Amino acid sequence: MKRRVTDFKKGGGPYVWITAYDYPTARLVDEAGVDGILVGDSLGMVMLGLPNTLGVTLRDMVRHTEAVARAKPKALVVADMPFMTYETSPKDALRNAAKLIKAGADAVKLEGGLEYALVVEKLVKAGIPVMGHIGLNPQRVLATGGFRMAGKTEEQKRKLIQDAKALRDAGAFAIVVEFVPPEAAGEVTQSVDVPTICIGAGPHCDGQILVLHDVIGLTERPPSFAKKYGDVAEAIRTAVSQYVREVKAGQYP
Ligand code: KIV
Repeated sequence: MKRRVTDFKKGGGPYVWITAYDYPTARLVDEAGVDGILVGDSLGMVMLGLPNTLGVTLRDMVRHTEAVARAKPKALVVADMPFMTYETSPKDALRNAAKLIKAGADAVKLEGGLEYALVVEKLVKAGIPVMGHIGLNPQRVLATGGFRMAGKTEEQKRKLIQDAKALRDAGAFAIVVEFVPPEAAGEVTQSVDVPTICIGAGPHCDGQILVLHDVIGLTERPPSFAKKYGDVAEAIRTAVSQYVREVKAGQYP
């Protein structure tokens, strides 16, 4: 049965999420039984070779969301709102989120806490489910000086909890918690009655999310916390080198 946002309830996990950006991988991860697929703006880095996610456009996200939606996954499909498509005003955010929903997303995700609570509220009131994203926010990499762990001090941890509560109050149905110490993620998880979906934030969460290319061994420099469950890079290298050898040797076709 198709997953709905209302299926993601506190205590109903652990929920398993993964990213996918195109038709074939959306089909495969759905067959593998994930609960949620994120069409992440990480596609800028893992698919397009960009140094960060700042260059990803709404057009990129719409195109890839359409491809994922065409696979008709049972998993919930969430599309990332790229950099500067929601920061400017709640009205801009609504117009841009609507494009992702029309492209086939079941919900959208945006980065930030309390400071974007009004944006989240506006989208939710318009009927667009929103997933929050706190901790390391890759779209703020210029301000933070790099992909750094968040929530390390007591003050940062208090801010994380405040952000999580603000997102929950604004109507977010779930919150991604990225790259924070496990105990901080645990406290955030305890502080809200919506599921937390963690990445590089330990086990005390309501679910986990990983980037597909890290999981299948297609990322050149995966983050330290990502677990590699397969080696698709090696499978491609082996298959294509054999093809090259056979054509050169006149064995194929
Ligand atoms: O874009 C993405 O892949 C993400 C995950 C890291 C949560 O936001």
